[in-house]
Amino acid sequence: MLLQVLGTAAGGGVPQWNCACPGCSGARAHPHWRRRHASLAVQASEDRWYLINATPDIGDQIEDCPALHPGPGSRRTPIAGLVLTDAELDHTLGIARLREAGVDGLELLTTTPVRDALTSGLRLEAVIGPYTPLTWRDLPFDRAEPLIPGSRKPTGSPDPAITVTAIPISAKRPRYAVDSAGPGAVPVGGAMGSVDPWVVALLLTNRATGATAVYAPALAAWPEALQSAVAEADCVIVDGTFWDDEEPRRTGISARTATGMGHLPIDGPDGTAERLAPLGARCLYTHLNNTNPLVDPDAPQYKRLAERGIEVAGDGMVIQL
Ligand code: MLT
Ligand code: MN
Ligand code: ZN
Repeated sequence: MLLQVLGTAAGGGVPQWNCACPGCSGARAHPHWRRRHASLAVQASEDRWYLINATPDIGDQIEDCPALHPGPGSRRTPIAGLVLTDAELDHTLGIARLREAGVDGLELLTTTPVRDALTSGLRLEAVIGPYTPLTWRDLPFDRAEPLIPGSRKPTGSPDPAITVTAIPISAKRPRYAVDSAGPGAVPVGGAMGSVDPWVVALLLTNRATGATAVYAPALAAWPEALQSAVAEADCVIVDGTFWDDEEPRRTGISARTATGMGHLPIDGPDGTAERLAPLGARCLYTHLNNTNPLVDPDAPQYKRLAERGIEVAGDGMVIQL
């Protein structure tokens, strides 16, 4: 399984256009500090890729990744579709950027609440539909969905036959969708109780090799189903928005804590580093907010993570599993 890290920043990116915090100012002075919005490309077959989330940077992210370039032929793209972990603007605004797909259309794999938010809240179908048809496919919780339908080649095949399964994380809605109850409010049952799957993690599996990766860029909670998935995974890429719970208040960007904003912090007794450290998987953080001290590549916090065997994902990183 081949994963291309297209971006590793939280909403706003690094630097954020209206921000002169130390991280954003540092990124203006030192280009290697820069991070685009968090996104991942997954190779589904030899020349077909799915993008996980569609960020405002999607055009530049495609240009910076040769595997995603079009050709041969003037309008042949290797991008087969999009998988969405949630309906947040930093993960969906890029869909409009792909409207030039034209008659070829765009395929989107989403949960029901995410689809409803995009069609009712953002009116994406109405606005983008006249440019390119949108094809919606359900992102299932109870089975492994082949990214490329019908791709069930036997073991040993060169076709990676990648499947995706959603893991419900939280009912945190985007701010533009707080009032839209809709059919998406139907809870999903599970061992951890019921949760409206507004935010999910993705379990990616290579059927041919058994390799698995978990991608979870937004973690308001750490449900039992996530713990089960990461315990078995080869690679785990998770929400590293804030270093500690007080960071948003301390830096003045919010009156809420990290947890209150829907992001478990990295550090602290209940931090996600405590959960990642014991895992056998290769573990990496992504979705870094520009206030996160990890934006500075020389921050001492890198050593603390390294001591626990945890990495921070970087834009352009290639992960082969
Ligand atoms: C989040 O990660 O919490 C959201 O993306 C916030 C936002 O974009 O406003
Ligand atoms: Mn975000
Ligand atoms: Zn900033």
